[in-house]
Amino acid sequence: MIVGGTVRVPGDKSITHRALLLSALTRGTSHLGGALTSLDARSSARVLRALGAEISPLRPDTVVTIRGRARFQRPAEVLNCGNSGTTTRLLLGLLAAHRFRATLTGDASLRRRPMRRVTAPLAQMGARFDQRNSDGLPLTVHGGPLAALRYELPVSSAQIKSALLLAGLAGGVGLELREPHGRSRDHTERMLRAFGYRVVEEDGWIRFSPEGRLEPFELQVPGDPSSAAFLVGAGALAEGGELRVAGVGVNPTRTGFLAVLGRMGAPVAVEDVAEHYGEPVGNLVVRPARLRGAVVMPGEIPGLIDEIPLLAVLASRAEGTTVFREVGELRVKESDRLSLIVENLRAVGGRAEVSGDDLHVEGVDAPPTGSVRTAGDHRLAMAFAVLGTVPGARIRVDDMACAAVSFPRFPETLRGLARRGGA
Ligand code: S3P
Repeated sequence: MIVGGTVRVPGDKSITHRALLLSALTRGTSHLGGALTSLDARSSARVLRALGAEISPLRPDTVVTIRGRARFQRPAEVLNCGNSGTTTRLLLGLLAAHRFRATLTGDASLRRRPMRRVTAPLAQMGARFDQRNSDGLPLTVHGGPLAALRYELPVSSAQIKSALLLAGLAGGVGLELREPHGRSRDHTERMLRAFGYRVVEEDGWIRFSPEGRLEPFELQVPGDPSSAAFLVGAGALAEGGELRVAGVGVNPTRTGFLAVLGRMGAPVAVEDVAEHYGEPVGNLVVRPARLRGAVVMPGEIPGLIDEIPLLAVLASRAEGTTVFREVGELRVKESDRLSLIVENLRAVGGRAEVSGDDLHVEGVDAPPTGSVRTAGDHRLAMAFAVLGTVPGARIRVDDMACAAVSFPRFPETLRGLARRGGA
């Protein structure tokens, strides 16, 4: 494939979820431009409507209007969070501070994902939970008055951290939080600061104090770096040309994949960076590269957690071996990504193995050929579709439709890269 031209990606998923949740908690009308309209974003909108917010339909290129009522109302139905872990976990934090009972569920993938990592610290703050299915969904939260918390997270996770920050916000209590290694994405902290809340990082602790004020707001959501990563990966694997992905969020807690790509021999230029609504946004420019293996250290993992499927398929085309250290968290994503990355790389003729919590991927020369099982995991589908752009590749992905969880029209966008370059 020869690539060329400029392409844009859908709005940032993490920022869209947070903006929907926070605007639903204000009293008045907020506007969200560039919001993600994917299935996950719709899950957040759906449950927030059930909690009393009025939210206009999520349509591409349409500003979303959110009318909040300052507090959530007791939902008349079970809150179905679909495939979205972020919706579920962040919402649990907010619901913990509301004096009613609400039950959350989701699709088969989400029902299996661990929730105790969020409910345990929220229970320490004073909320109560009935968890029927050992550690997953459905579960019922009984919210009420909350107490301040000092807590060391068992894993570096923006979802756990944000659930607790949102509980502190809605409950009006202070927090001191510490992540074990590596900083996870900090969008929640940035947004809370924009509302005047004190969120400071000192001695490895994040300290939150609740004296800000949530007001209706206007926000333009930047392009999602995690979606851009797939297009950047296709650009790096291409045979010629140059690809620009414009208007992408380049928050340093999200761009760990760019540093790894640089070490793999595919430097990505970040151009025209400007701060928009508290987040840095820029253009990514990538050219085809001869890739080489690299070692990705544990402290880097939170900053590129969602990009590992893509980096792993790139590693399968690199000279030498790439090692991702301490990536056990991949087992509890939308699928058991650790096993499925290995299974699928092998299924298309690659060499990969798991050793403890480390993932090893060895590069091969032969074009990848075979069938990929995604288990409905959007990022696996997109990563292997990118691998399918290698010359001579013949890859069948069992479910490409699941890409719509985070990246509507991904197959068309990927095909468009080549057309744009005239190949
Ligand atoms: C997210 C945090 C990450 C990431 C997910 C979105 C968020 O999960 O994998 O896609 O928006 O906070 P963890 O915090 O559980 O690692």
